Amino acid sequence: MTDDLFAPLSIRGTEIRNRVMVSPMCQYSCERDGLATDWHETHLGSRATGGAGIVMTEATAVEPRGRISPNDLGIWSDDHADALAPVADFVSERGATPAIQLAHAGRKASKTPPWDGSEPLQPDEGGWETVAPSAEPYPYADDEPPRTARMDEDDIEAVVDAFVAGAERALDAGFEIAEVHAAHGYLLHEFLSPVTNHRDDEYGGDFESRTRLVREITAAVREVWPGDKPVFVRVSATDWLPDRESWTVEDTAELAPLLAEAGADLVDVSSGGIHPDQRVPDAGANYQVPYAERVGEATEALVGAVGGITEPKQADALIRNDRADLAIVGREHLRDPYFALHAAEELGADERVEWPIQYRRAVGK
Ligand SMILES: Cc1cc2nc3c(=O)[nH]c(=O)nc-3n(C[C@H](O)[C@H](O)[C@H](O)COP(=O)(O)O)c2cc1C
Repeated sequence: MTDDLFAPLSIRGTEIRNRVMVSPMCQYSCERDGLATDWHETHLGSRATGGAGIVMTEATAVEPRGRISPNDLGIWSDDHADALAPVADFVSERGATPAIQLAHAGRKASKTPPWDGSEPLQPDEGGWETVAPSAEPYPYADDEPPRTARMDEDDIEAVVDAFVAGAERALDAGFEIAEVHAAHGYLLHEFLSPVTNHRDDEYGGDFESRTRLVREITAAVREVWPGDKPVFVRVSATDWLPDRESWTVEDTAELAPLLAEAGADLVDVSSGGIHPDQRVPDAGANYQVPYAERVGEATEALVGAVGGITEPKQADALIRNDRADLAIVGREHLRDPYFALHAAEELGADERVEWPIQYRRAVGK
């Protein structure tokens, strides 16, 4: 039987109620030191109430320097886990599977939130020195970035440890899926791409060396994440820089089975973010789906498609036609927290979802 958008998905014994995932989306709403607030609980809780199968947190920094802005979520202490626990709890209580995106922003850290211009912050403005595979700051068009330090082997080991400690705390907080963020020009993508990785040690140079850190972190997270719970990895399938040596779809297709070998159950296929010169030809409907399909051909791991998925029939077709195993929906979930419940109605699958009992009088139940 062909699966559809509302077919449950079982990964390693974790039962996910349908194939809709809330894509990780930064809220820039921490008031203090990366600690979750009522905003995070209400925002993520609403999307769980709205019927999604998986609700993923925004990029959650494994160390303070790994935040994009000073207002991002963190998971570098037990206090962070305590602040996130009610979020994970409420998401679970609403029937969704709580997921956390473990992240490090690398040289794209230390910026103001988008509504303040996403401008780089210097240390004397509340920012910090950033770290990256090479000592080259992100080339902002009009702004002076903070200094970027090249990571030495001790720094690399410390970042692997920070991802592991972050995963352990996330588990304590009640999350069931851990996603390693290796996309969008942040730290792990910076190691993958020859645009940003100019090292000549075991973490830079050829494909094997540039992919080492992502493989090590995936394996290390897998080791502490329980055997019955899934690990995802988000990648940028391409740098969108065809005129120079860069990370390509074929590199991603080569990496995907190695990620699966390291313990990834699903590859979440996004793109871009490494350099401001990138040119995305058309960021319209399904624009990254062909990359998800290419990754799906290359690995036994499951594949998530994201980007320009806004319509129920479109999301359903991705699953029915076996183009992806998960339909990952970002901005449409900001417009409509109840996307999944509305999709079920439109697709005639409303018997397979549950409106909150508190709301049933509004939907004729
Ligand atoms: C407000 C906002 C914040 C985002 N933050 C993150 C993030 O924390 N981690 C991440 O991997 N992607 C992030 N993204 C990218 C989305 O997860 C998603 O991949 C992208 O928006 C494309 O999907 P869509 O067309 O459904 O919105 C963000 C996007 C938006 C709009």
